[in-house]
Amino acid sequence: MCGIIGYIGYRNAVPVLMQGLEQLEYRGYDSAGIACYDHKKADFILVKEKGKLAALREKVGDFCFDAHVGIGHTRWATHGEPSRVNAHPHTDASERIALVHNGIIENYDTLKKELQRKKIRFVSQTDTEVGVQLIGRQYGKTPQKDLFEAAKEAIPKIHGYFAFALLSKDHPETLIAYKRSNPLVIGIGQGENFVASDVTALLPYTRQVVYLEDDDLAVVTRKDVRVFSLKSHSWVRRSPVTVHWNISQARKQGYPHFMLKEMHEQPEVLKNILKKRITKKEDIFFDTLPRGFPGRLKQIEQVYMVSCGTAHHAGLVGSLAIEQYTRLPCRTQVSSEFRYGNPILSRKDLVVLITQSGETADTLAALREAKAKGAATLAVVNVVGSTIAREADAVIYTHAGPEIGVASTKAYIAQLATLLLLAFYLGKLRKKIQTSQLKRLIKDFKKIPDQCSKVLKEGKRFEACAKKYFSRRNFLYLGRGYNYPTALEGALKLKEISYAHAHGYAAGEMKHGPIALIDHEQPVICIAPDSPTYDKMISNIQEIKARDGIVVAIGSQGDQNLEKIADDLFMIPKTIEVFSPILTVIPLQFLAYRVAVLNGRDVDQPRNLAKSVTVE
Ligand code: F6R
Repeated sequence: MCGIIGYIGYRNAVPVLMQGLEQLEYRGYDSAGIACYDHKKADFILVKEKGKLAALREKVGDFCFDAHVGIGHTRWATHGEPSRVNAHPHTDASERIALVHNGIIENYDTLKKELQRKKIRFVSQTDTEVGVQLIGRQYGKTPQKDLFEAAKEAIPKIHGYFAFALLSKDHPETLIAYKRSNPLVIGIGQGENFVASDVTALLPYTRQVVYLEDDDLAVVTRKDVRVFSLKSHSWVRRSPVTVHWNISQARKQGYPHFMLKEMHEQPEVLKNILKKRITKKEDIFFDTLPRGFPGRLKQIEQVYMVSCGTAHHAGLVGSLAIEQYTRLPCRTQVSSEFRYGNPILSRKDLVVLITQSGETADTLAALREAKAKGAATLAVVNVVGSTIAREADAVIYTHAGPEIGVASTKAYIAQLATLLLLAFYLGKLRKKIQTSQLKRLIKDFKKIPDQCSKVLKEGKRFEACAKKYFSRRNFLYLGRGYNYPTALEGALKLKEISYAHAHGYAAGEMKHGPIALIDHEQPVICIAPDSPTYDKMISNIQEIKARDGIVVAIGSQGDQNLEKIADDLFMIPKTIEVFSPILTVIPLQFLAYRVAVLNGRDVDQPRNLAKSVTVE
């Protein structure tokens, strides 16, 4: 939520900042702004605009800059409505420092009142302005106008979780950056350096990055980066690492939307995961598990899957697989409930945190809660080097590549594949799966990427279906077993990008309420592939038809029952139930995508949402 970018070097700062903001726009699009230090004018040039980046881009065109340093921001509003005045960067009362911010200042009200008593006038409704005014006041007191010293003194007074980038007029040869539980990376160039909320903004310039840790205050110049830890009160060394993503992965490559491009990348993502995780001897291998961790996994008596949104749906599938293949009890909870639920945990528990971004605030808090209570923690994460990946006892990367579309698609598929492999791995480790059974599972799994391509090729057929129903305002999704989470995920995809109301239900619950919704106008998406509960799904479908409802069915190839009763039917290749959620979700992604496009929605940047939810 909110994207931060900073640049210092030899290039014209404005295009660098604008390009960075373009890559970060998925983090928020309520307003955008930049502040650069113009060397000729010896002053800041501050440009901000309400709305998407395009509005800022138009405005920036009116200015002539001679700037080689600057900061920029794209906002997802928390405190104060989306408006020009609330857009970042914000400046202090003396207008000598500018700041961009991601996250929340929790004690902003108390701090604001204190500052107002000292006659400081506020112009915006944001918590951000409190941060810059507080640092600005401290700045005024430092003898040499030292922004680092001012930030070092002021930041500990601020409560909450946030990241800052700061620039002063008096020392434009230095950028200051600070991180506390919100992501911030430093890009290392030659004669130039960068600050960004995530690495995708840095990929056009460098793949060498330093991931800041919590309470790191970085001093960034053209030539070097020094990091002071406010935790240890000392200068610390943070080694750069090489990022393996490339810029073309973060571009649309001819697709009209990132979401569509990312859906089409799914077979490759799956192939890549299987290649990385399955050894020549047909065993499962997780390269990043620390020594001793597998030993700890052998002692575990209970597993928790903790995550948000789409990742939670992946957790529900993973949890069924863990119970089936390890016979360990596995509970699934959304992070926000887990963290405040005072969970009963001990060393015998394993808490698996599932997250694409590795920065989701509630999941990070859940991780800290689990660690504090002594449980073993394992993060299943897409973004390498993210906070959750670094703080968990162990990490398994999902290797989906950068996901830019706000609606998660390929990251979900990658989470499903990784969690299934984890379930099989644990089953083998705990001797609940025999080698021969594992071999059979792997054989079936290896067919899935091609089967996934097949489903994608036929995805166009869903266009006709979307055309029939795109103006409906209510959709019901039903599934059972491994495909109950698919029903939840299908409904979430549709509502988040098309804004139609969609509800996912366990099909067995239909008679306990949702059946009242069914009439001749109600589309019901029924996920009914081969499975032990297939007959039960067919009974549910009959009940819907008996009440004149519209059945859009997802079934397994050759299913003649469904051919007879469904109004619209989409077939997936045959596979065993545990793998079916990887295939059944694809038609639902298509349906959501097409319905959103036909309704003229902004598919990649749906209203009110942001890709990475770094505030509660
Ligand atoms: C929906 C979606 C969100 C995320 C959720 C968790 O398409 O993308 O529901 O799944 O915000 O995000 P991560 O996985 O980054 O923790």
